Amino acid sequence: MSIKESLVARGRALFFLANNPISLIGVIITSATGISMILFWAYELFHQGPMNPYAGIFLFLMLPTFFLAGLGIIPAGILLRRWNLQRKGELTDVYPQIDLKDTKFRHALSFVVVATLVNLFIIGIAAIRGTEHLDSVQFCGQTCHTVMAPEYAAFVNSPHSRVGCVQCHIGPGASWFVKSKLSGTRQVFAVAFHTYSTPIPSPVTQLRPARETCEQCHWPSKFHGDKLFVKTHFADDEANTRNYTVLMLRIGGHTGQQKIGIHGRHMSGSGRIEYVTSDERREKIPLVIHTGEDGKVVEFVGKGADPAALSQAERRTMDCIDCHNRPTHAFEMPSGAVDSVMASGGISAKLPFIKKTGVELIQGTYQDQDAAEKEIKVRLEDFYRNKYPEVYKNEKAAIDAAGSQLAAIYKRNVFPSMKLTWGTHPNHIGHTDTVGCFRCHDDEHKSKEGKSITQECNACHAILAQEETNPKILKDMGIE
Ligand code: HEC
Ligand code: HEC
Ligand code: HEC
Ligand code: HEC
Ligand code: HEC
Repeated sequence: MSIKESLVARGRALFFLANNPISLIGVIITSATGISMILFWAYELFHQGPMNPYAGIFLFLMLPTFFLAGLGIIPAGILLRRWNLQRKGELTDVYPQIDLKDTKFRHALSFVVVATLVNLFIIGIAAIRGTEHLDSVQFCGQTCHTVMAPEYAAFVNSPHSRVGCVQCHIGPGASWFVKSKLSGTRQVFAVAFHTYSTPIPSPVTQLRPARETCEQCHWPSKFHGDKLFVKTHFADDEANTRNYTVLMLRIGGHTGQQKIGIHGRHMSGSGRIEYVTSDERREKIPLVIHTGEDGKVVEFVGKGADPAALSQAERRTMDCIDCHNRPTHAFEMPSGAVDSVMASGGISAKLPFIKKTGVELIQGTYQDQDAAEKEIKVRLEDFYRNKYPEVYKNEKAAIDAAGSQLAAIYKRNVFPSMKLTWGTHPNHIGHTDTVGCFRCHDDEHKSKEGKSITQECNACHAILAQEETNPKILKDMGIE
């Protein structure tokens, strides 16, 4: 039999066997979903703006699944019919003649060829669009809304709100892509069956090394010099007295001749800092091992720790997220959160005791976020109505605005549904609200030679003013 003859024979067999209800249903499903997907892509081309996350699941995950299922049903029908005929002993070697001169058949054949090409094209685009969707901020942050709500709310409110979740959580390269898809599949099941932990534990153990992700956009060697911080705090008194703390933080990096500053000290080229933790949250650090650029190793042992027991423990090499553990999911602390809204004018500092009352209200216990929003507003109004009737009458708009702002602060930091509240995810930058830098810099981590990891205030910053109402330094610099 020549190749051509054999092909014709197979074609005939296929054509004959495909003529069964199951395969035809497959054809209908495939073409219906295929056409819907094409129409949708066309719509998407002209429609700007974000899409409903559930529409995303339907369009990028369910439609393509139906499409592929339809494609799978067609051969299944063929095999089933063949098997049935074989069982009945009716399977022949010779199928009804296919007549290529028969226009009806020729049309059917060209339809099959064209449909197959179109299908391949659709599958290709669907695969690309599907992975894009799975990687989108919308899918990561909004689809599983209860679970990701805290991280998403903090993210939207952060300097990285235009950086996609996957740029930090996956990063470039095929192996991390596959790892993340595997753990993603596990997470989808956890959400579906409610087996996830509340709150989601931090640190993330399987996070890609931060230096690989962060250094796509930031180079620690490019951090030069110092950075000035002006921190505005409001006191607990009736006048909400405004105070300033001014710090010159030594954030510099590696400068070639010598490494100076915070980034240079911890993130230098060949030196490295490793540490051992005694808790899962990496908050207790009994052993720190510093390897200098010259290869000299110094071990700093925390107070009361046994160096022999610790030398076998697993070590972690310090990287960006040991300080910047909250680069984008930075949950605030009550006082700081109210300070920053007051400093920007969102809450009027003219309202008596607004700082003290506001901080108390957002620390209250409420059933859920909606209840909190209502109660915070009502209780604030009650406070002024009872204690300051004059203010209540004249400053109604300012009180309403303050109530809304306080509710908003609550809603981006406290998530009763995820058991996430003030301080659940502490920020390691600094040392005033949490231990932060002082996990190591407590002056009690000592080397054999008696050297310690410094707590010297000036090693990290020059304090130019501390809680002053009218700091001279701000006048000198022309800031106030
Ligand atoms: C700038 C980088 C960055 C971006 C962008 C980012 N994350 Fe994160 N994410 C982190 C880091 C760093 C951690 C904490 C890791 C640690 O401490 O181990 C984290 C932790 C988390 C956690 C664990 C719980 C927690 O709060 O520590 C979740 C869940 C999470 N991110 C989800 C998201 C989602 C959803 C998005 C997008 C809406 C996103 N992330 C965007 C860097 C990022
Ligand atoms: C895709 C690029 C990108 C990646 C990846 C990225 N960042 Fe950023 N980051 C930015 C941009 C852009 C800004 C500046 C935003 C602005 O000034 O509004 C920024 C700002 C910052 C700031 C300054 C925040 C402030 O309050 O001024 C810190 C700190 C920071 N990033 C740390 C990190 C860390 C740590 C990681 C890794 C976990 C990381 N970034 C990953 C783009 C990125
Ligand atoms: C030892 C702690 C520590 C480590 C490790 C660290 N940083 Fe920082 N970084 C700081 C502090 C402190 C600041 C200043 C406070 C701030 O901006 O919030 C800062 C500031 C920054 C800024 C803002 C700079 C500016 O000019 O505004 C960026 C961006 C940044 N770090 C990125 C990184 C990256 C990327 C890494 C890892 C390669 C890293 N940091 C490692 C402590 C650290
Ligand atoms: C995991 C432990 C660890 C943490 C956390 C840590 N450091 Fe360090 N730091 C070290 C070690 C180790 C050294 C080097 C000590 C030496 O050179 O003898 C160091 C050195 C420094 C120096 C140089 C001190 C000097 O004498 O010149 C500065 C500045 C510094 N750290 C700032 C910070 C800041 C700011 C933070 C918090 C954002 C921080 N560190 C968090 C371990 C740590
Ligand atoms: C290991 C580094 C380090 C040491 C040592 C250190 N600090 Fe700090 N400190 C920081 C960093 C980093 C911040 C900035 C945190 C931020 O960006 O909010 C800070 C912030 C502050 C603030 C401002 C807090 C605010 O939000 O108003 C004060 C005040 C302060 N430090 C006082 C001190 C004093 C006093 C000492 C000496 C006992 C000291 N610090 C030692 C790293 C250090």
